[in-house]
This record gives sequence, C-alpha cells and structure tokens, in this order.
Amino acid sequence: MKKVLVVYYSQSGQLLDISKNVTKELEDSNEVDLSFYEIKLKKDYPFPWDKKTFYNTFPETFLQVPTELVDLDNPILKEKYDLIILSYQVWYLSPSIPINSFLTSEIAKSLLKNTSVITVIGCRNMWIMAQEKMKKLLVQNQANLVGNIALVDRHINHISVITILHWMMKGVKTRFLGIFPKPGVSDKDIEESIKFGPVILKNLLQNNYKNLQNELLDKGAVKIKPFLIVMDKRANILFGKWANFINSKGVANSDKRQPFIKLFSIYLSVAIWLIAPIVFLLFLLTFIPLTKSRKRDKKYYSSVQIKKD
Ligand SMILES: Cc1cc2nc3c(=O)[nH]c(=O)nc-3n(C[C@H](O)[C@H](O)[C@H](O)COP(=O)(O)O)c2cc1C
Repeated sequence: MKKVLVVYYSQSGQLLDISKNVTKELEDSNEVDLSFYEIKLKKDYPFPWDKKTFYNTFPETFLQVPTELVDLDNPILKEKYDLIILSYQVWYLSPSIPINSFLTSEIAKSLLKNTSVITVIGCRNMWIMAQEKMKKLLVQNQANLVGNIALVDRHINHISVITILHWMMKGVKTRFLGIFPKPGVSDKDIEESIKFGPVILKNLLQNNYKNLQNELLDKGAVKIKPFLIVMDKRANILFGKWANFINSKGVANSDKRQPFIKLFSIYLSVAIWLIAPIVFLLFLLTFIPLTKSRKRDKKYYSSVQIKKD
C-alpha cells in the first residue's frame, strides 16, 4: 500500500478541485492510501479580497515572510508518505504566503525529508519564477521534486489580468460584465486534469519517477510561453526593489507604508498596460537571435531540474 498526501490551500476552491481531479485515479486505487491536508492560517486572507489587503500583501509575499499557521500538530503531518503532492497558487510571482509558511515550518522538514514531491500549480499564468523559489524551498526541506503540473488561464495576458481582478474582488468565478471570458483555469482544463492520475499512479507503483515529468509533459502538464519567462524574470527584479522599498517604510498594515502601497498599485497598472507591450516588442525584435536560449529555457522550465547557483 502506497501512502500519498495532498497538501493544499485554496481560497476559491479552484486548486482543491484540480488536486482532487489530479489524484482521482489514486483515490480509486486499492493500492493507494490517499489523504488531504489543508493549510490553515491563524489569520486567514479575505476572499473576496478588498483592494487594500490585496496590494498590502505584496511585500511579505514577495519577500517570502511566513505567517502563523494553525493545525500543525495534526497527526496526518506526523506520518511518512511515499509521495506528497503540494498544490499551490502563485501570489506576486512567488509561492503564496500560505504554502511558503507551511514549507518554512518545522513540521515540513520532517514530513518532506527524502520524500518525493509533485507540485501542482493553479494560477493566472506567471508561475515560472515562483516554481524556482519553490525548488529552493524543497531543497531546504531535502525533498525530491519528481513532477510538476501547472494549470493556468489560457486567455491572453491582458484579458486574464482584467478577469482575475473581477474574480478576486467579487469572489465569484463569473464573466466580467457578461462579455469577458470566465477567469482562472478553464472548467475543461480542471475536468481534464484527471488525465494526470494514471501517469502518477503508474510511476508511484513502480517506485521510479525517472520518466514521470516527461510522461506528464506528454499529457500537457506544462505549457511554456517564452514571453512570459522574459516578463517574469524582469518583473522579479523590479518587484524585489519595490518590496524592499515598501518594507523600509513600515511593517505590514502600518499606516506609514500605505502611500507607498498605493504607489505600487499604480506602478503595477503602468507595468501591465504600458511597460509589458514595450517588453513584448523587444521580445519580438530579438526573437531570431535569441532562439537558442529560448529553446534552452523552455526545456529547463518544463522540467523538474534544479539549477545550481
Ligand atoms: C494576491 C494575489 C496575487 C496573485 N499573483 C499572481 C501571480 O503573480 N501570478 C499568477 O499567475 N497568478 C497570481 N494570482 C492568482 C493565483 O495564483 C490563483 O490563481 C488565484 O488566487 C486562485 O487561487 P485559489 O485556488 O486560492 O482560489 C494571484 C492571486 C492573488 C490573490
């Protein structure tokens, strides 16, 4: 009997739906004992979000400052597992505060040590650098990353920015103004994520994950858009400067830093609506000379390899 644990946090339930579908085959197998653990925060984030909290969460998320969790003494976390599925969402190009807090907790160290991990991401579309940060967290916990599935909103970047804000601020996954597409990961992609289950089950029962990621890729687990890699990397540099700057103005929720949070929210709109199109133009202009590095990046970010700094 193989023991598998799914660790997740989800505000809207999207990531839980994805996780349940991804593990449906394991749930149905009599050779697998499957458990779910929901990360619980002492002070949870609101859903729907209010604008102030949404932007105020940026510095701590980006600087990966953990928050206090509850339920860490749950017996489910004291057992050893053959495989752990870590389902996480991206906040501000980083693993969300709940998953980051979990992975920096003491219990995660013993839970994850020498254990195979599959990451399952459900986000808008910018997860590449967040996954690099996730890899570091997994190395710190001595876990072995064996697979990654990243489900995203497939609509064009600017459409998904508009629709996700509507979703996050209203709390309902509906069409904005009745004309925009539904936000987030599509219902079809969520339903079809059961296709990853048989691949995971086969590799789990063989106790050999060497081909797992390639087999998951054959099923469409990851689709890399090279322009988003460029955007993600550039935005990470600028976000780093903003996060440290805001942080130097006062601790979370202090009134002193509010004007700077407001400034950041304006910057974010300018970056998305004005700077991103310019970066896209530069991306197109350098498309041919950068073919080789683009292919190399695509291969690396689709894989579960870990770059050595
Ligand atoms: C504060 C915040 C920041 C976010 N930043 C990003 C981001 O940088 N990249 C991205 O692809 N999605 C981003 N998202 C979308 C989330 O990754 C996720 O898809 C959404 O919150 C739904 O997740 P849920 O399962 O918790 O409901 C962000 C969401 C929130 C609330």
